[in-house]
Formats: sequence, C-alpha cells, structure tokens
Amino acid sequence: MDINNVNIEEIVRQVLSGMTGSTAAPASAPAAPAAGKAIPKTARVAMLTALEHYDIKEFPIPPVGDDDILVKVEGCGICGTDAHEFKRDPFGLIPVALGHEGTGEIVAMGKNVKTDTAGKPVKIGDKIVTCMIFKDDPDITMFDLNKKNVGGSDVYGLLPDDDVHLNGWFSDYIFIRGGSFGSTFFNVSDLDLDSRILIEPCAVLVHAVERAKTTNILRFNSRVVVQGCGPIGLICIAVLRTMGIENICAVDGEQKRLDFAKRMGATQTVNFKDFKGIEALAGGVKDAFGGHLADFAFQCTGSPVAHANIYKFIRNGGGLCELGFFINGGDATINPHFDICSKEITTVGSWVYTLRDYVTTFDFLKRAKGIGLPMSELITHRFPLDQINEAHKTNLAMAGLKIAIINE
Ligand SMILES: NC(=O)c1ccc[n+]([C@@H]2O[C@H](COP(=O)([O-])OP(=O)(O)OC[C@H]3O[C@@H](n4cnc5c(N)ncnc54)[C@H](O)[C@@H]3O)[C@@H](O)[C@H]2O)c1
Ligand SMILES: [Zn+2]
Repeated sequence: MDINNVNIEEIVRQVLSGMTGSTAAPASAPAAPAAGKAIPKTARVAMLTALEHYDIKEFPIPPVGDDDILVKVEGCGICGTDAHEFKRDPFGLIPVALGHEGTGEIVAMGKNVKTDTAGKPVKIGDKIVTCMIFKDDPDITMFDLNKKNVGGSDVYGLLPDDDVHLNGWFSDYIFIRGGSFGSTFFNVSDLDLDSRILIEPCAVLVHAVERAKTTNILRFNSRVVVQGCGPIGLICIAVLRTMGIENICAVDGEQKRLDFAKRMGATQTVNFKDFKGIEALAGGVKDAFGGHLADFAFQCTGSPVAHANIYKFIRNGGGLCELGFFINGGDATINPHFDICSKEITTVGSWVYTLRDYVTTFDFLKRAKGIGLPMSELITHRFPLDQINEAHKTNLAMAGLKIAIINE
C-alpha cells in the first residue's frame, strides 16, 4: 500500500498519542478567539537586524485563519543556536525573529485546530510549545539538512522573515500556522513555565540516553560517568536519575557545577583540577566508584581533550555516548588499540532529538520535579523582552547556565 501524507500524519498521531496516554479523539474545543480575552492589535517582536543587535519592533497581529493559532508568549530560553545566529548569522537569516525554546498560552485559534501533533485536544487557554521536527516522521532528527528541517517552513525561531513577522518566541505573540505549513506543536498545560522552557535542551538528553540504551550496556546498577557539568551534563544526570540509575560520577573542573551535579543526582564528583595527568585522573574516577572503572560514560563537553580522556574512565567491554560535539570542535587524539579495540568499547554518537523524544521529555520533566530535582535552578538568569541584547550578551559570557526571556 502506498502510504500517503494523510496516512503518515495519522500514524504519527497514533504513535505519539499512545506515548502520552492522550486520546486521539477530536476535541470539542472552541474554535473562535477567546471571548473576554482582549487581543491587542499589535505585538512586539525582538528582531535580530544586525550581528549582535536586536531591535524591538511592533507588528500588527494578523487575522487568525482556520488552521492558525495565536499564542501569547510567556517565556523562551536562549539556545546555543541563537547564540550562533546572534554572533555570526550562519543561516543567513537576518532580519530574523529568533527564539525556538518558547512557550505560551493559546489566545485564539482557527476552527480546524482540534488537537496537537500527538492527538491531544487543544483549547484556548492551553499552554503549548512548538517543536523543530516535522511531523511526517517521528524518528527524523532535527537539522537533517538533506531532508527538510532547518530552512524549511515551520521552524519557529529560525524562519526567514515574511509579512507575518510573528515567527519567533522572542516576542509578545507568536503566530503558528497549520495546514500545509506542517507545524508541530504540543499541549503541555500540565507543565510549569520553567519546565516548558527547558523542554528543548532536555529532549537532547532523552535522545542521548535512548542512544546509550541501544548498546545494551546501560543498566539500573551501572556505574556511569557524566563528563562535563554544563546544562547538558547536568540534565544528563537528571535523566539518568529519573530512570533509576543510582551510581553516577560527575567529572568537571568547576567545583560549583560539581556541587550542582550532586544536587541533580550525582553520587560522586571528581574535579579534574585535583589530578595531574590522565592516569591520575582515571585513578580518581576509579576510586570514586570504589575501585571500579565506569560501565558507561556520557561525554558532555565540546573539548577534544575531554573526548580523549573519557576512554580511560571506562572498563573493558563498557560503553560511551559522545554528545558533546554539536558543532565541529576539532580533532581528538586517541589510541585506537588501547582505547577502543583491546577494551572492546561500544560507542554511540547522539545529535539533537526526534519528535518521539520530544514527547518522552514531557514525562521526564514531570518525573524530575516529582523526585525533587532542582530543574528550575538550571534557569539562572531571567530577562524581560526589551533586555534581549543584554540577555544574549550574558549568554555569550557564559555567566550562568540557561538564560531565559520571561514576559510579564
Ligand atoms: N548532541 C547534541 O545534540 C547537543 C545539543 C546541545 C549541546 N551539545 C553540546 O554539548 C556540550 C555541552 O553543552 P553545555 O551547554 O553543557 O556546555 P558548557 O560549556 O556550559 O559545559 C561544558 C562543561 O564541560 C566542562 N569541561 C570542559 N573541559 C572539560 C574536561 N576536559 N573534563 C571535564 N569537564 C570539562 C566545563 O567546565 C563545563 O562545565 C557543548 O559542546 C554543546 O555543543 C550537544
Ligand atoms: Zn535549541
């Protein structure tokens, strides 16, 4: 049978709705703009108009068509991709409305909008997020440039500017277009604002752990090293902790970050600055595990030296998930005989996430909160929209962990 687009859409909806436990039944949601909710005529949009410079512009809010959703933005995290765009405009998008780690409340929607991408009913007042992944394949990964994601039509926060302008989450309102536009969005009304802002980076770690599981080495009682305690490593620890992995050793050179790693669920920490040379450092990791090397390791830094080091922390027959090189960070020198062959290390790489991982992430965030992990503290700086240039500069200075724009 020929699977046409409609069928694929239906299959994706069934798969995703099975995961969230929502019903695929169409909602009887109101289709008209919310009565009593005043929608202004214009909205502020932070538009990147030059390198390292946003202007706050005011644009009319367009009429909401049958397939469209108007969302009042509550907040949006600043991502590494935004930092690249801010500094260098690698996608050649300026002028562009950025912000893809955003969330807000539906204030108006067209009559054809009944459910989110997972088939969960949506109504005015619901809180949603968009996703950078197209809906025609739940397992396609983001930035698959040979397919159709970045530069495609529905990546809010990376869309070329057009006559709608309300295309990014660094704004008062975002205008989500459905129909053939192909937007993916999710009803996440059961998550608090901070959790919703953290969905995108958390999905990276849900994906990485899914990749790690394919090695069949990662188990409940595994000894796991997480190297690098920036937001990525810290969230990695949180994901492992929520899935019941208890024996986690965090490795970094920043004591404050190692202390945070403990609060996130690491049982041991190793500060590489306390050791001279890789042999001594590997000894430190071994001591932390009571005389054993790690069964599995996650490499969460963009440092080639850290990549080379991590093999020394892993036992014979162990596994490695390398996820630290989202961008090209240069070559690393390893000895394939000692580091891979003779130890029979199983290595997986991990890059961003799939639509399926996105949905899993919503449940992860609930579990993380449920067991008391300090997820909200990952958001170290909050700026209003009109201070977006300062917010990006704070992000570039690496002064905190996650920087967010929060609307009043
Ligand atoms: N795979 C993906 O899809 C994906 C997605 C997002 C980010 N990333 C990558 O993950 C990496 C981490 O992201 P982040 O936001 O946490 O970055 P970050 O810079 O905030 O954190 C990196 C941490 O690694 C530590 N570090 C540096 N060298 C080290 C070494 N030799 N040994 C141990 N620790 C060391 C630093 O002190 C820092 O705390 C980045 O390189 C980023 O590009 C990957
Ligand atoms: Zn991002």
